Amino acid sequence: MDYQTLEATKDVFVALLYLVSAIFFIVGIKNLAKPKTASRGNRIGATGMFLAIVTAFIDFGLVVDVQNEVITSQFQYWYILVIAVSLGALVGVWAALGVKMTGMPQMVAIFNGLGGGASLLVAGVYYGFELARQATLDVPMLVATVLSGLIGAVTLSGSFIAYGKLQGLKIVPDKPVTFTGDLAFKLILLVGLLGLGAYMVMTPDTTFWYWLIVMGGLVLGIFLVVGIGGADMPVVISLLNSYSGIAAAATGFVLGNIVLIIAGSLVGASGIILTNIMCKAMNRSLLNVLFGGFGGGTTHTTTDEIYEGKVTSTSADEVAMILESAQRVVIVPGYGMAVARAATPVRILTEALEKAGIEVVFGIHPVAGRMPGHMNVLLAEENIPYEKLLDLDTVNPTFAQTDVAIVLGANDVVNPLAREKDSAIAGMPILDVDKARTCVVIKRSLSPGFAGIPNPLFANDNTLMLFGDGKQVIEDLVKAYKEL
Ligand code: TAP
Repeated sequence: MDYQTLEATKDVFVALLYLVSAIFFIVGIKNLAKPKTASRGNRIGATGMFLAIVTAFIDFGLVVDVQNEVITSQFQYWYILVIAVSLGALVGVWAALGVKMTGMPQMVAIFNGLGGGASLLVAGVYYGFELARQATLDVPMLVATVLSGLIGAVTLSGSFIAYGKLQGLKIVPDKPVTFTGDLAFKLILLVGLLGLGAYMVMTPDTTFWYWLIVMGGLVLGIFLVVGIGGADMPVVISLLNSYSGIAAAATGFVLGNIVLIIAGSLVGASGIILTNIMCKAMNRSLLNVLFGGFGGGTTHTTTDEIYEGKVTSTSADEVAMILESAQRVVIVPGYGMAVARAATPVRILTEALEKAGIEVVFGIHPVAGRMPGHMNVLLAEENIPYEKLLDLDTVNPTFAQTDVAIVLGANDVVNPLAREKDSAIAGMPILDVDKARTCVVIKRSLSPGFAGIPNPLFANDNTLMLFGDGKQVIEDLVKAYKEL
């Protein structure tokens, strides 16, 4: 076979392998859409990624020897492959095994940041090599390089600030950090960086401008995210996820790597769809999340006005007796169930109630917890059937026929203030637990939820407060119920 045929055969082989990895990504994402198939989707996606990495090394590691007309293998590439994949896999497995479910958004933030960082480094180094070998650089490639550097840098620094806010690090305040003229500063910085990018595209003779854009992007990322409150970080992380995908796709254009373009576009698109779903579930626009934030509204009701003399606390024994005469129970889990790691006792309670012929279902709010599907994952891990997890629209009309609604560590998602026009969470769809005959709220105190506002539900006539740690309280409840 002459060397040209060999070269062409290798290219077709590499392109086919990339195509197969892209199919794996698409099928993986499709499977991620349902809790039942989500783990399979993860495995399929990871397999696709492994195949894509190996293919990139095949592309560089197998070189056509023009003189002898044979394909030779470049040993140093396989060496890099083994070290890179082993080290990367080791860190990934260690991080995934060690992370708690409640720390998942932080982990996603770090992964996004690293994705953005990898994209900007690869694009920058490639640009440097092309300049060094005095290649003719076309405009689309240069534009993609600028975008990769800028978006990658914003994603990198923004994600680490988001991580700090969610993790409660002291150096990153949870509250929005704003100053007079901060919006103008961010706009001027963005326009300046785009101008610098245009200059780089027109005069591609040094990598200096590229790294200056990266520096500016890092500063922009910090200021963009530091100005947003911790409460909105899940949305910001999803948006940064989308940015990391766009940066990767841009790097794909720089390198002419099809699978990177496809994978980056998939991440970019799914991140923005998720951001949109979260905003809708909170009845807020993306602009409001980025530049407004929780805490608006003009309702100035104080905690004392709402709660004083109106809160009825109860005991596990009393709730067990109420449950004994119930026919239908709806459990509404929230962030507190995740913190308390109460999913196992919840499953045990559900089984005990069902054994006595009581119908038990779960009301799942789309933003309950700290990430989309948070509650579904925790309950799925307990093998609670998916059919029992009812979404907002399905469960809400049934509360009027519900004997007991048990709210476990949820707050904002059941706050009736959302029905009031001027409240900070006005318009956010909520679970109508107050329409059940009795509503039992399990939490440790009367302290507010993520949005930081009081909750009049706790003072309702049909609400009983069962104070304590979620796990302990449910265990006590199971014990009391079984002893009846
Ligand atoms: P929250 O409103 O944050 O309320 C959680 C409650 O859990 C707290 O009031 C806390 O009260 C209680 N809690 C904490 N630890 C507990 C423990 N060990 N045992 C028992 N209770 C405990 O949670 P939610 O109702 O799930 O609402 C989610 C919030 O996150 C919403 O504001 C939503 O907009 C926001 N958010 C979520 C997402 C996604 S995608 N999930 C995205 C953006 C924003 P005590 O301290 O008194 O115990």
